Amino acid sequence: MSTPVATLIRNGRVITASDDYVADVLLQNGVIHTIGQSIEVGPDVRVVDATGLYVLPGGVDTHVHLENVIGPSVTCDTFASGTKAAAFGGTTTVVDFALQTATDSPLQAIARAQRSAESQVAVDYSLHVIVTRVDAQVLHDVRHAMHHEGVTSFKMFMAYPGIMMADDASIFRMLRQVGADGGMVALHAENGTVIDLLIQEALEAGHTSPRYHALTRPAIMEGEATHRGIRLAELAQAPIYFVHVSSNEALKHIVTARAEGIPVFAETCPHYLLFDDSVYHSDDVEIAKYVMTPPLRTSQDQKHLWRALRYDDLQVIATDHCPFCMKEGHLGYRMQKMRGKDDFSQIPNGAPGIETRMVSLFDIGVMQGKLSLNRFVELTATTPAKLFGLFPKKGTIAVGSDADVVLFDPAASQTIHAHHLHGNCDYTLLEGRTLRGRVEKVFLRGELIVDGPQWLGRAGMGRFVPRGQVRAF
Ligand code: URP
Ligand code: ZN
Ligand code: ZN
Repeated sequence: MSTPVATLIRNGRVITASDDYVADVLLQNGVIHTIGQSIEVGPDVRVVDATGLYVLPGGVDTHVHLENVIGPSVTCDTFASGTKAAAFGGTTTVVDFALQTATDSPLQAIARAQRSAESQVAVDYSLHVIVTRVDAQVLHDVRHAMHHEGVTSFKMFMAYPGIMMADDASIFRMLRQVGADGGMVALHAENGTVIDLLIQEALEAGHTSPRYHALTRPAIMEGEATHRGIRLAELAQAPIYFVHVSSNEALKHIVTARAEGIPVFAETCPHYLLFDDSVYHSDDVEIAKYVMTPPLRTSQDQKHLWRALRYDDLQVIATDHCPFCMKEGHLGYRMQKMRGKDDFSQIPNGAPGIETRMVSLFDIGVMQGKLSLNRFVELTATTPAKLFGLFPKKGTIAVGSDADVVLFDPAASQTIHAHHLHGNCDYTLLEGRTLRGRVEKVFLRGELIVDGPQWLGRAGMGRFVPRGQVRAF
C-alpha cells in the first residue's frame, strides 16, 4: 500500500487518565479524527487490528538531557539517538533543556538548542531554559520566551555551585515573574554549598569510591532545599515544580505545602522506584552507573514515593534521562563515568532511562498493583502535558489531539539489554531484567514510526511544540 491517507486503529482498549473502553480510533491529518464503534473506512485507509492491545497516548517525558553540557561532560545521547530511543519506549514528546551560559541570554540558549535539534529530532520536543543568572535583561528575555517563543518553563538549580547554582533571590525573582505570567519554575532542590563541603571533606579523608556520592548528598539536604523552594514560591505566590524527588525528607514538605493549598507539584523518576541505596554497599567502580543526583535512597523512601504517586502528592514520573557511557560509546563519548574512578566527585551525574520508562513503570506499577492503568497514563503523559502547557494537544487520546498513539501489549514481556536499546549509552540499569508489557506500535501525529522492532521514523520529523500556560488547577 502507498502511504495511507489515514489509519484506523480497530478494537483496541483506549486508556486515558480517566477512561477505559474498547473503541476504534481514526487518525487523520495528524490528529485524532474520530473515536467510535465500528467506524467504516475506505480502502485507502490503513486498518490496524488492536484487539487485545492498549491504545495509550504517546508518553510525555518532561525531564531529559540530550546533548546537554553538564560541567565538563556532554550527555552521550544526541537529539537523534535520544528521541529514537524515546519513540521505541512509547514516548512521543520530550522536553529537553537549553542552558543559559555565563554570557548568553535565555533566547540565545533556546535558539542554540533548536538549531541542533531541528534536523535530528524523531519525536516532538520542547525546551525548558536552565536559568543560571538573573538580571533585568534576563527577566525581559524570559518574558519574551514565554510570550513569543512558546517556552513557558524554566529550570533553576539549588545545587552545583559555580556551575549552575542560582541564589535564593534569583530563584525568587524568577518565581514571581514566571508565575505571574502563567509559567512554571522547576527546581533542582539540594543544598549545593553544604553538599560541596561534604564532598571536599570526604575526599580529604581519602574516601574516593563512587559510594561516597550518595553519602555526601544526604536526603536531609534535599529536604532543606525543598522546604526553602516552597517558601520562596509561597512568597512569590507562584506555582513551583520539583524535579527528581527522591526522598521522604523532600516529600514531607511537598505534602504539607499541598495540604496548605500552596501550588506545589513534583516528579519522581523510575530509578528511585526500581532501586534503593543498597546498590551502593560496595567499593566497586561499577557503582558509577548508579551515580545520579539525587542518589538512590532507602527502601523506606521508596514506599513513601509510591504512596505519594497513588495519592497525587507526586504528579509526574519523568526519566531525568542523563546518559554517560561507562566504557564504550559513540561519538568519542568513551569512559565518561570512569573519569571518576579515583575520585567520585568527577563521575558525571546521571543515568539513562528514556526508552524503558513506560514499560518499567507498567511492570512495577500497574502489574504489581501499585498504580491503576489510568493513573499510569496520568503520571507518564497527561499531567506532564498539563503542567507544562502541552495539553490537550499532547498527553491524551481525544478528538482533535495530536495523533500520538502507542499500541501496547500487556500480555507480552521482554528482557532488557543495553545492546537492544536505541540510545547511545553503553549500559542500562535494567540489564537482564524481564519486564511485562511491550510497546508494539507508535504513531507520531498519525505516522507509524515504530512497528515492533522496525524503525520507520526519520531524524528531523519531530517538531518543536510551542507551549502554553500551566494547566494545573
Ligand atoms: O544526575 C543527574 N540528575 N544529572 C543531571 C542533572 C540534574 O541534576 O538533573
Ligand atoms: Zn537536577
Ligand atoms: Zn536532570
